[in-house]
Amino acid sequence: MYVLGIETSCDETAAAIVIDGKKIISSQVSSSLEFHSKYGGVVPEIAFRMQLETISQVTDDAIKKAGIKISDIGLISVTNQPGLLGSLLVGIAFAKSLSLAKGIPLLGVNHLFSHIYANILADKSLRLPFVALIVSGGHTSIFYIKDFDQVVVLGQTQDDACGEAFDKVAKILGLGYPGGPLIEQLAKKGNPSKIKFNCSDTAQPLDFSFSGIKTAVLYRVKGEGPRVKDKNFKADVAASFQDAAIDALVRKSLLACQIKKVKNLAIGGGVAANSRLREKFIKEALGRGVKCFFPPKSFCLDNAAMVAGLGYRLFKKGYVSDLSLRAG
Ligand code: KG4
Ligand code: ZN
Repeated sequence: MYVLGIETSCDETAAAIVIDGKKIISSQVSSSLEFHSKYGGVVPEIAFRMQLETISQVTDDAIKKAGIKISDIGLISVTNQPGLLGSLLVGIAFAKSLSLAKGIPLLGVNHLFSHIYANILADKSLRLPFVALIVSGGHTSIFYIKDFDQVVVLGQTQDDACGEAFDKVAKILGLGYPGGPLIEQLAKKGNPSKIKFNCSDTAQPLDFSFSGIKTAVLYRVKGEGPRVKDKNFKADVAASFQDAAIDALVRKSLLACQIKKVKNLAIGGGVAANSRLREKFIKEALGRGVKCFFPPKSFCLDNAAMVAGLGYRLFKKGYVSDLSLRAG
């Protein structure tokens, strides 16, 4: 079955065609990122205006690239939570209109669960049940996936998301936005053992906290005076912060695997594109007999193929939405 996926939860407008939740036939992504850079973060008003302007074209391109007709589509799967309200509404309203006009079934899916599904699209050997870490600009959560309609939250951030902390530290270092890839590049030139940063403890062992480490970086940088401009100092801060943040992700995810007695760990979301993170996860997991799964870097970021894939799996289980589908 051809499934059209539509994703507009943050600053991307994405559409994709996926067959049977397995094979990606087309995946189009248009981002408004460059328009947010000068503000140091996503401006919701800019994001949803751009999505309104581009969604029709992006969807048309995805259908044309797949070489199919609208009438070939068996399901429209659209992200309906969580995300920026205005942005979600653009995708939902568009998906509803197409569903109503062409008589195609509609299904709203969870953005975070679709990030998890990106791992299934990438590697068919990943079997249920497994533990998943979703680590992005808006979320940092550990899930136990018994099935795609039986997802249990094992832990989540109590304050900032990990990607948000990367973005804020990049801002403190004057690097630009989005901060994750810029920190990753700079950290390659730094010494991760030079400065001791730690993520704060949380009451529940599988929860996260990234707000304290961001403040620790701020004070360390402020306290440095004129040496702040020193390239080596900045690189050491980036490398030390990055390793401390990743260490918390690795430690807690592996603890979740141990608690749930599973040997497969799927990692997704924008921060999972980080090469140092991949390296550390693979090294630490190996010693405990846990296998790590990562989607290709482009499918760690927001895309609609993962939305189409998850939609198919849930539709086959009998889930379907109607025109009362809401955002959030
Ligand atoms: O999943 P995503 O595209 O959007 C959300 O749903 O939030 O993730 C975006 C986040 C941003 O905070 C960005 O700085 C971070 O992912 N990110 C990275 C890297 N690439 C993107 N963080 C660390 N290292 C990277 N290479
Ligand atoms: Zn995302």
